[in-house]
Amino acid sequence: MEGQFGEKSHTVHNPIVYFCRTLYTAMTHVLQTPDQVIQQLNWRYATKQFNPNRKISEPIWNALEQSLVLSPSSFGLQPWKFFVVRNPVLRQQLKEHAWGQAQVTDASHLVVLTIKKDVGATEVDQFIERMATVRQVPAETLDGYGGMVKGFLAEPPYPITMDNWAARQVYIALGFLMYSAATLGVDTCPLEGFDRDQFNELLQLPEQGYSAVVLCAAGYRADDDKYAALPKVRYATETVVGYYD
Ligand SMILES: Cc1cc2nc3c(=O)[nH]c(=O)nc-3n(C[C@H](O)[C@H](O)[C@H](O)COP(=O)(O)O)c2cc1C
Repeated sequence: MEGQFGEKSHTVHNPIVYFCRTLYTAMTHVLQTPDQVIQQLNWRYATKQFNPNRKISEPIWNALEQSLVLSPSSFGLQPWKFFVVRNPVLRQQLKEHAWGQAQVTDASHLVVLTIKKDVGATEVDQFIERMATVRQVPAETLDGYGGMVKGFLAEPPYPITMDNWAARQVYIALGFLMYSAATLGVDTCPLEGFDRDQFNELLQLPEQGYSAVVLCAAGYRADDDKYAALPKVRYATETVVGYYD
């Protein structure tokens, strides 16, 4: 029997296991069991060869788009914008500045994750205004919060530029996108192998106040992508996870 996304599953053979799993899911209000989460994390890999003919459907893409919108960020500031490059000619040009990596042109979707440059007091005011609107509270009631955020940005408690701070937030969004994609059986490849300045120029990002940080190609793996079958190379759990009891 095959699992939800066509992969072989060793547990769903047994109807009792299947029943228990379904019951567990219903009782705990979770959409996936722990086993299913791990299964999808093992299923995903940094896809090298995408099937250029297979596109992500609109409902699935809408969910992935929302995974970006709903990503958390420090103070909620969302110092980013995510540009989806649909134009094939532009994607071909971008590929030339991304080490010729085929994912840039062949994946169904190409997302350029960017930071908002030089985040500061203006962005805090903008965010406070948004918060006041969404939560329907007078903006003055948020003055304390706004002041605290401005203080942090003006003098971070550790040495960091605002652009680097914003980039940290962007990587969280990348993780959300990749995880959501894996959950929906969509393949991704994160890419840092590209020339940021060339991307910025081709997409006219500085003019808009943004700068490219990382890319994410999303779509469906080609049948002959040999990387799909390679075992994951990870350190032993105890090497990378420690506990203080
Ligand atoms: C931030 C980041 C940048 C990456 N850049 C590239 C890239 O430019 N090209 C590529 O083929 N893979 C890239 N990768 C994929 C990694 O090589 C891959 O995730 C890692 O080897 C682990 O393999 P797995 O994702 O298949 O489990 C990148 C991964 C991350 C997280």
